[in-house]
Amino acid sequence: MVNFPTLRPRRLRSNKLLRDFVAQTHLNAANLILPIFVKDGISEPEQIQSMPDVYRYPPNDKLIKYVENVKEKGIKNIILFGIPAYKDEVASSAYAKDGVIQRALKMLRESFKDQILLIADECTDEYISHGHCGIVLRRNGNLVIDNDESLRIHSKIAVSQAEAGADVIAPSSMMDGVVGAIRRDLDEAGYKDVAIMAYSAKYASTFYSPFRDAAYSKPSFGDRRGYQMDPRNSYEAIKEVKLDIEEGADIVMVKPAHTYLDVIRIVKDEFPEYPLAAYHVSGEYSMIKAAAINGWIDEKTAVLEITTAIKRAGADLIITYYAEKIAEWIREGVPF
Ligand code: PBG
Repeated sequence: MVNFPTLRPRRLRSNKLLRDFVAQTHLNAANLILPIFVKDGISEPEQIQSMPDVYRYPPNDKLIKYVENVKEKGIKNIILFGIPAYKDEVASSAYAKDGVIQRALKMLRESFKDQILLIADECTDEYISHGHCGIVLRRNGNLVIDNDESLRIHSKIAVSQAEAGADVIAPSSMMDGVVGAIRRDLDEAGYKDVAIMAYSAKYASTFYSPFRDAAYSKPSFGDRRGYQMDPRNSYEAIKEVKLDIEEGADIVMVKPAHTYLDVIRIVKDEFPEYPLAAYHVSGEYSMIKAAAINGWIDEKTAVLEITTAIKRAGADLIITYYAEKIAEWIREGVPF
């Protein structure tokens, strides 16, 4: 009995060198995507109240400087969200040639050439008067989000973003057929090489609240449960991802990330040959931030643990407001 136990898993945990040696999951700045809010009509960056340390940037040299800075830290992938000067019933500021996103894309393309991957979030909610992800029509006295009318607008937005220089279009509306419609119209307009990263399994989540505060995109009536997925379902994600792949998606996504790790795992196992992105969303960000500000958790360790968990669950790419910080922290060395 003296030598018992003979099997000792602790052996490989006994010092940091051994732990690093056998660690299965490693974060890499190359796989991170930083979301950036670009707002029309301001000249200085503006703090977002419910997302401490996140700003809305004006489409000017301040934006360029910020991107230059994150690029130096190793973050080369950004996804842009626009906050326009005006909203109307058809989201025309989302596809205007001089729209805020189109101007930002052009500026960034000119400044950085092919040194930054430009991803454009494609949706109507920030640009349309009622804040929904599609066109609202009255049917039998009820207001409905009309799927097929919406597709035409989404296509138009996508083509205008490609025209302005986006490398990747990311449709986030959860309209049926939106990926196919965008692929067809991008091809027809000559943008065959512009990729689609589809928000395939996007859940109707309360964790988007700070984003809606940041982008002024809270719906003025109803909610998004008629098009975004029901948090109670996991296998439905397979149906959504499969459709997006059939329609031409190059990269698929699960959103939110931290609260939907099971869905990430299911999707990765089912479609291992497709790059999978996961979106660590605004509410997930703000919860960590709030706890960190109060001194209740250690921000660096918490963020690295959660982001590693998202990758371990099966995400290849992670969209996170912490991207810049994570890149810094990876260089310092992870605390595990
Ligand atoms: C829609 C869109 C939203 C987010 C990304 N794209 C908002 C929504 O569906 O209400 C949320 C991102 C986040 O919460 O960080 N354009």
